[in-house]
Amino acid sequence: MLKSHTCGELRAEDAGKEVTLAGWVSRRRDMGGVIFIDLRDRDGKTQVVVDATTSQQAFDAAERVRPEYVLQVRGQVQRRPAGQENPEMATGAVEVRAAEVTVLNPSRTPPFVIDREEFVEEGLRLKYRYLDLRRERMQRNLTIRHKAVKFIRDFLDERRFLEIETPILFKSTPEGARDYLVPSRVHPGKFYALPQSPQQLKQLLMVAGYERYFQIARCFRDEDQRADRQPEFTQLDLEMSFVERDDILDLVEAMTIGMVETASEIPLKWREFPRLSYHDAMSRFGTDRPDLRYGMELTDVSDVVANSAFRVFAENVAAGKPVKAIVVPGAGNYSRSQMTELEEMAKDNGAKGLAWLAIDAESEEIRGFIAKFFTVDQLIAITERMEATPGDLILISSDEARIVHQVLGGLREEMGRRLGYKERRELAFCWVVDFPLFEEEMEDGHYAPSHHMFTAPKREHIPLLDTDPHAVLSEQYDLVCNGEEVAGGSIRIHERPLQRKIMELIGLDIAEAERRFGHMLEAFEYGAPPHGGIAPGIDRLVAIMAGEPNIREVTAFPKTQQAMDLMAGAPSEVDERQLADLHIRVEIGELETDPS
Ligand code: AMO
Repeated sequence: MLKSHTCGELRAEDAGKEVTLAGWVSRRRDMGGVIFIDLRDRDGKTQVVVDATTSQQAFDAAERVRPEYVLQVRGQVQRRPAGQENPEMATGAVEVRAAEVTVLNPSRTPPFVIDREEFVEEGLRLKYRYLDLRRERMQRNLTIRHKAVKFIRDFLDERRFLEIETPILFKSTPEGARDYLVPSRVHPGKFYALPQSPQQLKQLLMVAGYERYFQIARCFRDEDQRADRQPEFTQLDLEMSFVERDDILDLVEAMTIGMVETASEIPLKWREFPRLSYHDAMSRFGTDRPDLRYGMELTDVSDVVANSAFRVFAENVAAGKPVKAIVVPGAGNYSRSQMTELEEMAKDNGAKGLAWLAIDAESEEIRGFIAKFFTVDQLIAITERMEATPGDLILISSDEARIVHQVLGGLREEMGRRLGYKERRELAFCWVVDFPLFEEEMEDGHYAPSHHMFTAPKREHIPLLDTDPHAVLSEQYDLVCNGEEVAGGSIRIHERPLQRKIMELIGLDIAEAERRFGHMLEAFEYGAPPHGGIAPGIDRLVAIMAGEPNIREVTAFPKTQQAMDLMAGAPSEVDERQLADLHIRVEIGELETDPS
């Protein structure tokens, strides 16, 4: 090694030792006859003192160095003079007096400061990602990621899981996004698809009798990018045979707790994850991925307002449409324009309007354009039901349940953000179970799977597939943390006739089903065991565990929101020759974007 010690390990006890360090110049201060250099490597920083009276060679070399030069320093560890210790630095009790300084490589002036945490425009960070990754924040994030993945591997290995790789060049494995395609040179006009997940392959491994499989799997999805999406991302892909839902939930819950406690500094809110049905999640939080760091639950007040003089509420309740509300603590003094802003948000989510009641912090008087339609007793009943106190704001919505949930769910998120609840440093995991098998919205006149087409309906709901498919609940489950979906999975269909039936409902005719998924259907005829699995998104979990706002911060070389790599410049044009080999001619038409 070109070094005897790291830049993070020398302590007072090491005084007197001869050491060799190597790393980057973090900071250099010239104090006349003495130059101080903070030398940095992955493990930390050590102060180097270069004094011409100790070594003229070292001093001459140190005079030329600039930030980010790569140096090797040989010298002796000494305690810093009394009063000059730096308690903020792990190595702050000592310094290395240089006997020899070798410049291993000079550096151009970096486009941004690496030594300190300060705002740098993200495009610049991504263009010079190798410099960005030198920063402490990124090193910390990638270390958390490593620890999390290592924990997962060890945890599953101890439980007899086998890690098995599956192909990247494969056939379309639909998970609801567009495929990335790879043209075949030797089969003109034919394409591989990059897997959106190893879904089919892991099920086939169950048919093959492996019983417990996992993989740290790269997945590829051509969809519009958001903070929590990348075109290629990593899942812990996992599948088990002879299991029921709770076997998977219990396993992943124990793994998640261990992983968080090993890799993250953010505490868990609870060690037993609440299990909410989809129905309860929607009706209490207005979303299937609730942020449980705070309450602000949607509360039904239909019975309290059913007989009020406010016609909209009375009529809606009579028509079976709910009236629900949330309480926003301390927002009772919102101005007219602030209320208009909230109403606009509600309208963006499909509301016709937004009713509200504000309780004055001092007079306890109840304000709001709807207040006059209620008797004093009714107003008291509402505030009591809502457990609202003086100074609070009650936001009320009434419409079809779906819209009420969307509207109040959206406002709950927004108010959670405004009140700082979404900055709470804790991890509130929960499970959401009992999803409907199909989405509410049809696609091209067909049912669309809420998870994917291999998800099993609940046994007792199978007869409903013929009469009322929308009423069928499934064996799907999601793991949610702080308002984000971090894992999705299900117990699968393992019988050919049921799988065929679901394919029909989602609009695949026999010929197409055979062409695209014939291998799956056939495999189900060779003794497919009951099986199920899940896929936690590693990027999302690590971002949450690192307290980062998006998954680019925990991905070494991420793509931008426009799915570009700014460092290498991908995607890029290719030679005519390469295209010809692949039998491809390029014609550029209109760019289509995803509606989402
Ligand atoms: P699903 O599509 O729900 O399920 O994905 C599972 C998890 O993967 C993460 N994820 C993403 N992370 C970053 N960027 C993306 N574009 C992206 N898309 C998804 C999320 C999500 O919860 N085969 C099934 C799993 C199964 O049924 O076992 C699947 O892929 O954290």
